[in-house]
Amino acid sequence: MDQNEAFISAVQTATLERFETTHKAPSNIALVKYWGKYASQIPANPSISFTLSEAHTSSRLLFEKASKAEVRVLYQGEPKHEFEPKVVQFLERIRLYCPFLNEYKITIDTSNTFPHSSGIASSASGMAALAMGIVTLEQKLGGIAKEAMAQKASFLARLGSGSAARSIEGPIVSWGEHHELEQSSDLYATKFERPHEIFKTYQDTILIVHKGAKKVSSTVGHDLMNNHPYKDARFEQAQTHMSSLVSALKKGNVESFIRIVESEALSLHAMMMTSNPYFVLMEPQTLEVIKKIWEYREMTETPVCFTLDAGANVHLLYPEAEKEKVHAFIEDELKSYCEDGFFIHDHCGEGAV
Ligand code: PMV
Repeated sequence: MDQNEAFISAVQTATLERFETTHKAPSNIALVKYWGKYASQIPANPSISFTLSEAHTSSRLLFEKASKAEVRVLYQGEPKHEFEPKVVQFLERIRLYCPFLNEYKITIDTSNTFPHSSGIASSASGMAALAMGIVTLEQKLGGIAKEAMAQKASFLARLGSGSAARSIEGPIVSWGEHHELEQSSDLYATKFERPHEIFKTYQDTILIVHKGAKKVSSTVGHDLMNNHPYKDARFEQAQTHMSSLVSALKKGNVESFIRIVESEALSLHAMMMTSNPYFVLMEPQTLEVIKKIWEYREMTETPVCFTLDAGANVHLLYPEAEKEKVHAFIEDELKSYCEDGFFIHDHCGEGAV
């Protein structure tokens, strides 16, 4: 059997007239980056991330039996038509795996804990919350066992936005096959087993140096990897970084963690700078902040490091034990580089609830 077939729902008839469920799903920050994909959201290389906690989406889903499938999207109770095409596309992609959806009108009321224009992508948390709601309906309809729900939710979320697959569980999750991670799969994410204590409570302060939408959508970014002159070297580097990071995460080797994570962030941006067309997604403040972090690390020997998403904002990563010191550093030296002094203190969390 094709591996995907295992995810086709066993529900024959949808017996519930009306069902309502609410889920909260966090964003995540990749340590080894997913950048480049094949058809059906199959990643070109494995990735691994910290599941966050404070930055999350809450979605209330109302399913009502109807003669034809329909969807309505609200943002904080108000109609939000511009969100609908992405949701409709997602529901189309997962219909094969959840045919019971054909029998429902769905109303989705969603909200984020982070401001809309803050530069934090809501697709990972949003798709994860939506997938959890759908799998919960499937479970109520008797189509899936409780123990299988997280894996199916991750499988569905992946079809909405690749990185969303990593927002179902926590605190550390990998997605994409890797020979050192036995349970790993290209189809869904899996929880990273037995990380060292220090990494279970790692902190992430998101420094918003530039608000506003991303300059390059991830769809365009992934596509640019197809003909990228350095793609083979990049995919190989990601494999090697995964091996080293797996070992660092198990042993609690913070030094090695810092080296790999910063290299990954810069490699991701290097790929964008060398694609055709090319992009610079950092802002001058991004580089200022990176320089400050390096100076502070060297001067104080505090194990802080940074990572970047496909944008200008900086994620400052540090162990929980350093929290007080690092918060003072942020207030004194980094806050002034943030747009309107805006940042979010976040930390590793357990995933969707
Ligand atoms: O899930 P997507 O298609 O939005 O891609 C996410 C890509 C990065 O955020 C840049 C890296 C990652 O692994 O999360």
